[in-house]
Amino acid sequence: MALYGNSQLTGVEKTFNEDEIIVSKTDLTGKITYGNRTFYKLAGVQEKNCLGIQHNLIRHPHMPRAVFELLWNTLKAGDEVFAYVLNRSLNGDEYWVFAHVTPSYDSSGNITGYHSNRRVPKRDVVNEHIIPLYKNLLQAEQNAASPKEGLSGSYQAVVDLLTKNKVGFNEFMFSLGV
Ligand SMILES: Cc1cc2nc3c(=O)[nH]c(=O)nc-3n(C[C@H](O)[C@H](O)[C@H](O)COP(=O)(O)O)c2cc1C
Repeated sequence: MALYGNSQLTGVEKTFNEDEIIVSKTDLTGKITYGNRTFYKLAGVQEKNCLGIQHNLIRHPHMPRAVFELLWNTLKAGDEVFAYVLNRSLNGDEYWVFAHVTPSYDSSGNITGYHSNRRVPKRDVVNEHIIPLYKNLLQAEQNAASPKEGLSGSYQAVVDLLTKNKVGFNEFMFSLGV
């Protein structure tokens, strides 16, 4: 679970400029090892309170678990991920991003950590495609008999959607327009 719980959501959406990039890096377990100034500004937290903390620090409760499952499966397999993500700030405000997350490698080819760059997403793509899709996935997760069944059901729904469209997850994200 995210550190802040569900109680503090304000419903206020923040935006950032098209020329700003939100950057963070993690270790192999998802603990934050670096954030740029834009990251801390949007998250509403100070660097000293973030380093060494799990990245779910800024997890928004409306994000379906299936998206993060897919993200981690892809990263651990050594591949990059593009995804729309809704994040929350410390004060409960929220902000949408279009994220590109990659593994980092050492000279022997071992994964040493992960790196995410995020830019402002196209609002019409978020409104028309992402919000309805994520809402359905979240509902499937919440209506299931158990969290485990919820995750496997919503993950399968994503797989089915990609199979139907004959694309991978990244291609699907790009097909919506970014
Ligand atoms: C480099 C990197 C960046 C990440 N960025 C975010 C992010 O911006 N927002 C987020 O909610 N999760 C992000 N995650 C995923 C989190 O580690 C975590 O899986 C997610 O917040 C779900 O948390 P939960 O498992 O507690 O539900 C990132 C992971 C990595 C490796």
